[in-house]
Amino acid sequence: MTTDEAREFARSYVRFLESMHELAGRGEGNEVVRRVQEHVGEEGRRHSVVGRGFAPFEQVNVQVALDRWSEQPERTVVVEGVTLPPHYGPVTLQQLLHGEALPPTRLTAPELVDLPSGPGRTTACVRNGLFLVDDEARGRFVLFARAPQPHQGEPVLQLELAGLPTDEAQKVLRELDELRTRHNVYRGQTVELAPEMHGGLSVVFPELPATERADVVLPDAVLARIERHAIGIADRREALRAAGRHLKRGLLLYGPPGTGKTHTTRYLVQHLAGATVLMLSGRSLQLVGAVTQLARELQPAAIVLEDVDLVAEDRGFGPGSSPVLFELLDAMDGAAADADLLFLLTTNRADLLEEALAARPGRVDVAVEIGLPDSDARRRLLDVYARGLRLEVSDATQDDAIERMAGVTASFVKELLRRAVLEALEGEAAPDGVVVKDEHLIRALDDLLDSAQGLTRALLGVRDGAAAPGGGPEPHPHTRQAYASSLSFVAEAGPGLQPWR
Ligand SMILES: Nc1ncnc2c1ncn2[C@@H]1O[C@H](COP(=O)(O)OP(=O)(O)OP(=O)(O)O)[C@@H](O)[C@H]1O
Ligand SMILES: [Mg+2]
Repeated sequence: MTTDEAREFARSYVRFLESMHELAGRGEGNEVVRRVQEHVGEEGRRHSVVGRGFAPFEQVNVQVALDRWSEQPERTVVVEGVTLPPHYGPVTLQQLLHGEALPPTRLTAPELVDLPSGPGRTTACVRNGLFLVDDEARGRFVLFARAPQPHQGEPVLQLELAGLPTDEAQKVLRELDELRTRHNVYRGQTVELAPEMHGGLSVVFPELPATERADVVLPDAVLARIERHAIGIADRREALRAAGRHLKRGLLLYGPPGTGKTHTTRYLVQHLAGATVLMLSGRSLQLVGAVTQLARELQPAAIVLEDVDLVAEDRGFGPGSSPVLFELLDAMDGAAADADLLFLLTTNRADLLEEALAARPGRVDVAVEIGLPDSDARRRLLDVYARGLRLEVSDATQDDAIERMAGVTASFVKELLRRAVLEALEGEAAPDGVVVKDEHLIRALDDLLDSAQGLTRALLGVRDGAAAPGGGPEPHPHTRQAYASSLSFVAEAGPGLQPWR
């Protein structure tokens, strides 16, 4: 090939690439664009695309709404999948309608993601689905459902409509939204939202361990107060509404680790008849705004916010945004007062929340300290966790154990019995089951309290005062002072707060 021939080839190759780009840019030759344009027709292309965003955990409900709506006799709906090559950003319906700056896309069978929609149940949800609608009353139009892609900077689910005048499009989106609320798969369920890698979110329908009143070992007055605020108000919902009293309530349980804050929330949410329970902790607390909105739609509802101190100083997204804790408190405030919503907060660092709660009074209206078990509570804990065991331990040994455990947490007592069973299993187990005897309980307690096991003891929450068989007790990082100071915000935070002492 001569130089001139090579040059001529290069020139015509560039011209070929340019014309291909132009064609692709206009979407000509793109089968997705052709399909959308043909379906809505010349007239439909003149209307604006109208879209709506949904929180990522609503994807399954949007799918349920689309399924129900598609089944209605007045319309036929054909679903097509749209493939997007990797490393391209999300594609909008506006691009598909007008063929603007599109990456190479194709029509395929719809890509599905199988999402949890109930305990032990899943629903296949369309990821990038084109719904080609032929509606008796409204004619032909297109819906595009685009799944959230958090790692591509798109945290929300988008539902877009093309081919209808704006007011009609809004009506369709409203119909779908009503179906989403009416058939919401979270209604009446316990749902745990947990953050995943790359900004994703997992939805779990956890099976909480059945927890009855007798399983919760707290001073009677403390438990009664918690129940009155959490459950009692729900039970008197209608009477309180009729009397113009507000139902929305915030309950904070605070105190050292392992004393039963989480345990108590489990008991409470299982005894809120018919309520939807939405549980957030750690990074998922950032979703509190969207979750509160959902709770409002599904009320009666409880929103459990575990370990809120973890976000006390975290900042939300965007420049200058406020700490997540403030967003959380704002969300609590934003919900209507007559909504039957229970906000259940737990923390073991009430001192970190003090300032935020004092600055925004009225959100948490009851704060209850869950303290270390006294000797009476330790005795009851021994009874609770010895249930189903054959315990042949003398009264004197039990009394001695209860005394030596002064300063331990409730979870310590539970662990003690587990270890006592292990000790008993090491001896010759009776043919009809394990029998826990004096020596097993004593050995397990010696072992747990042994100062040589400083780390284990710290993890189990042994405090000053617990009598170790040899050597002094280990100091614990969380001293009682930290909790003592935390009561002051309750008294100062305004008339709505009822201090519990
Ligand atoms: N007051 C209690 N009555 C009965 N069991 C308890 C009590 N407190 C704790 N337990 C037992 O110990 C386990 C651990 O307690 P839990 O998770 O509720 O502690 P927590 O106060 O939430 O601690 P953290 O601050 O670390 O979250 C519970 O699952 C329960 O089995
Ligand atoms: Mg807890």
